[in-house]
Amino acid sequence: MKNNFLKYRTIWFDEVNQVVKIIDQTKLPHQFIIKNLKTIKDAINAIKTMEVRGAPLIGATAAYGIVLAIMENNDPEFIKKSSDELIQSRPTAINLKWAVNRMIKKLSGVNNNEILKVALDEAKEICEEDVKFCENIGLNGLKIIEEIYNKKKDTVNILTHCNAGWLATINWGTATSSIYHAHKKGIKVHVWVDETRPRNQGANLTSYELNEEEIPNTIIADNTGGILMQRGDVDMCIVGTDRTIATGDVANKIGTYLKALAAHDNNVPFYVALPSSTIDWETTDLKNIPIEERNSEELSHVEGLDENNNVKKVLIYPKKSKAMNLAFDVTPAKYITGLITEKGVCEASSNGLRKLFK
Ligand code: MRU
Repeated sequence: MKNNFLKYRTIWFDEVNQVVKIIDQTKLPHQFIIKNLKTIKDAINAIKTMEVRGAPLIGATAAYGIVLAIMENNDPEFIKKSSDELIQSRPTAINLKWAVNRMIKKLSGVNNNEILKVALDEAKEICEEDVKFCENIGLNGLKIIEEIYNKKKDTVNILTHCNAGWLATINWGTATSSIYHAHKKGIKVHVWVDETRPRNQGANLTSYELNEEEIPNTIIADNTGGILMQRGDVDMCIVGTDRTIATGDVANKIGTYLKALAAHDNNVPFYVALPSSTIDWETTDLKNIPIEERNSEELSHVEGLDENNNVKKVLIYPKKSKAMNLAFDVTPAKYITGLITEKGVCEASSNGLRKLFK
């Protein structure tokens, strides 16, 4: 295992230049570009345009966004306005609100001379905590993969949707952390990677990550999982989540729900991996989860390398056609075999969550 991802974090503070550094994920897999965020506007733009994406990373970027806001102007009004704008930048991933609220709570009552240092320390702490949590999620999920491997005595085929890897977190990932741990332990794994239209996080990011770590993987069109499950070619599914509500219902990238239905129909275990920062304890009805609707251009246009290795964007729909682009769906808890968290694996239910966390 090359552990390439352990060399980089997805976000960090550059003390020398006093800027926040990110990997611009809109350029992957063709270019690996590190970008500077210098202002609160840069942070908000990075979240909105998905230069950074994935619930835990969005949260960490929001925390650093508060740091950048304070560097520009430490007036409480400006910090409040910046926090509100950050929270509104993407609606579904709860980590965003969680991180901003945690920062604001930490800063309350702190004087002007200390506020920047306190904010920076807290943003760093949010990142450190995420790395530790994701590592533990991986160790807890490893036990499940190991059990399947010990019974099957052959390669464990795992299906995943979207990107819930190290690029979606600070390091390790949520869904992929168990896969990395299993591979490291010598357990043979193969990953079915859902392409994840329209932004192709599976093809562009998950497959890229797995290739870097030399983990066998195959990209499939989003609608292929069903027949693979019918054929017995999927041993388990592991996905991430942008918001898991108090009842254990899970919001994740559009298409997750259909995968869970297919898994249920074919008795394939369906797991969701998440840190506690992705639990929305206040929401108890899945209908109240805000579902982001993004620009339809993400559907109608496709970007890739042309024959001269230049990145090119092309229209693939009829010019006059309308398109609708919902970015997330909700998988009811009844279709989820278990939630893999940093504290252990629990039933996807309010009881299951409460037993583990309260
Ligand atoms: O729109 P994105 O790329 O931010 O959506 C990301 C996902 O849906 C991930 O599966 C989710 O955030 C889990 S992150 C570890």
